Amino acid sequence: SEPLRLGIAGLGTVGVGVLRIIRKQAEMLTARTGRKITVTAVSARTRGKDRGVPIDGYAWEDDPVTLATRDDVDVFVELMGGADGPAKAATEAALKAGKDVVTANKAMLAVNGQALAELAESEGRQIRYEAAVAGGIPVIKTLLEGLAGNEFTRVMGVMNGTCNYILTRMQSAGLPYETVFEEANQLGYLEADPELDVGGIDAGHKLAILASIAFGTRVAFDAMELEGIGRITTEDIRQAADMGYRIKLLGVSRMTGRGLEQRMSPCLVPAASPLGQLEGGTNMVVVEGDAVGQIVLRGAGAGEGPTASAVMGDICDIARGTRLPVFGQPAASLVDATPASSATP
Ligand code: NDP
Ligand code: HSE
Repeated sequence: SEPLRLGIAGLGTVGVGVLRIIRKQAEMLTARTGRKITVTAVSARTRGKDRGVPIDGYAWEDDPVTLATRDDVDVFVELMGGADGPAKAATEAALKAGKDVVTANKAMLAVNGQALAELAESEGRQIRYEAAVAGGIPVIKTLLEGLAGNEFTRVMGVMNGTCNYILTRMQSAGLPYETVFEEANQLGYLEADPELDVGGIDAGHKLAILASIAFGTRVAFDAMELEGIGRITTEDIRQAADMGYRIKLLGVSRMTGRGLEQRMSPCLVPAASPLGQLEGGTNMVVVEGDAVGQIVLRGAGAGEGPTASAVMGDICDIARGTRLPVFGQPAASLVDATPASSATP
């Protein structure tokens, strides 16, 4: 059968990770999907930069939109980031040019997901974004496919590796914020704008996406009650530990009688609990369904390998011809969520 030809925009932590897997596992990927997966062209901001992986064999495009619409590209892989700007422009152009899109961009989906899902549907294409929520944990596919027979009652969890890394290292190693922040940076966890991480916005984007799938609502990031970790001090962490607790940036979403509750904020959790013991860049997503009960997913939420793993899962699905609606049902049938008040009964 015909090869699946990729155009990859963004050659940072995630883009390079994807190229590494494609180069290293070419035969395995073909055996698993029945198609050769090739890279036609790539794009990034700076041409000529050493990427740590050879890119000479791929065509170069300065403009991601040109890359996304090339005739010899079947799938546009968006790994640049940013809610709007070139990521959105190139995604729209790709869909209009009849390409499927794979992205890791939660900001784009949380802000522009509804319009992009409607565009994908009208063009008969799909947008896949497994890497956008909880890095290497296949939570999107779990909700869209494996748990499709459930009415969801709650989704919650720790969904930002940077914040979890900072909070756990400050606690366990007694290191100052600045030192652990730099460690997270070295591990490739940080967003281009780290305020998205420590401000809780990135985790909020992820929770808003999960809530949309779980509750059949349009992504409502604007309605999220949001607080980051910027005001947490070493003293807060120490006092919590003295009482047997850890501080975690925890997200909770559920449908209440008053509407959709979405909260992302620092919470005290018992130190001995699974959430309390979650260390480093690890994420944990807890999903509750009426039929299945509680499912707990745990794994690396950020970094090159785990994120590229999720991107490759989407690419393999497209190579196999699997189709999934962006948010689990036709975009036009998603309803506006009424935000629940912050007062929890
Ligand atoms: P990086 O900052 O490491 O890389 C971004 C890449 O995009 C760079 O290669 C950059 O080019 C390129 N780029 C930026 N702007 C443009 C532009 N205008 N035109 C062309 N290329 C551009 O980001 P990450 O790899 O960490 O993240 C990529 C995406 O994956 C983001 O959406 C992020 O939220 C998401 N993500 C990241 C995870 C992680 O652990 N890092 C985990 C899950 C999702 P250049 O290199 O030349 O500057
Ligand atoms: N900056 C994000 C994090 C990357 O730290 O979790 C993964 O989405």
